[in-house]
Amino acid sequence: MSIKVNNLSYTYNEGSPFELKALKNINLELDDNKVIAIVGATGSGKTTLVQHFNALLLPTHGSLEVNGKLIEADVKPEGLKALRKNVGLVFQFPEYQLFEETVVKDVAFGPKNFGVSEAESLEIAKKYLKLVNISEDLYERSPLDLSGGQKRRVAIAGILALDSNTLVLDEPTAGLDPQGALEMMELFINLHKLEEKTIIIVTHDMEQVLNYCEEVVVIDHGEIAGHYSVSEFFNEKDLLSKLDIEMPSLIKLREDLINKGFKNLDNILNAEDLVKAIKAEVEK
Ligand SMILES: Nc1ncnc2c1ncn2[C@@H]1O[C@H](COP(=O)(O)OP(=O)(O)O)[C@@H](O)[C@H]1O
Ligand SMILES: [Mg+2]
Repeated sequence: MSIKVNNLSYTYNEGSPFELKALKNINLELDDNKVIAIVGATGSGKTTLVQHFNALLLPTHGSLEVNGKLIEADVKPEGLKALRKNVGLVFQFPEYQLFEETVVKDVAFGPKNFGVSEAESLEIAKKYLKLVNISEDLYERSPLDLSGGQKRRVAIAGILALDSNTLVLDEPTAGLDPQGALEMMELFINLHKLEEKTIIIVTHDMEQVLNYCEEVVVIDHGEIAGHYSVSEFFNEKDLLSKLDIEMPSLIKLREDLINKGFKNLDNILNAEDLVKAIKAEVEK
């Protein structure tokens, strides 16, 4: 299954003086089982787009199909609950949405809401709290007592506990320290590798795009500016400079070497391959 977006437009406050066209005629196809980055400047429409993927927002015009379910403008969608379980959406700053009395209850809320028994929901919650590295002594504490990073991890455990096959992550590592961000990304990538989850991640971090993603969708002023493999994306130099996207250090080094006359480096995306290719050139 997959996500297919057809001529989708979204306008905030349509018909009012505050009308704002956030998405304009989007066409997009995202395959299952991939790790896909969505990138673009602040205000370009990334959050608005991904909030359509679990029908949190409904199209103003056009439609989308999410894992077989059609969502159209002007049609009240049915079966939203199943869709929300199928596509887990982690908001930007999800920690603001913690609301239960205790950490473990907060994480158990999702499974319980989808019909899992209380006891089993608590077991599931503990499994995911462990996965996000929250220690047992925090389970019965109020989420409000936790540090910022811990709150973020609890909130993410709450979405993971739904066991969705598609995870949509809206800037999940924004504001975390580098170590916290790294651990978070490793967690998502392990879920992708071990449980074949589709990961759609909104990010500004080009190192994450390079190190973890397979495809990149670029949004610019509410329009799709391109959909590339990661290798193609880092070769779109005009687009990258137009959008003021800072290249990862490895790609900068690669480009410097290409400018100095090194050949056959265009599609290299990791340090090991870069070293091999340089060695091969030097030996020639
Ligand atoms: N709830 C809202 N009401 C009105 N305008 C909004 C709302 N949310 C976002 N916008 C506007 O829609 C545009 C796209 O926003 P958003 O999807 O949040 O972009 P991004 O996630 O790429 O930063 C921006 O101009 C933003 O100001
Ligand atoms: Mg956003």
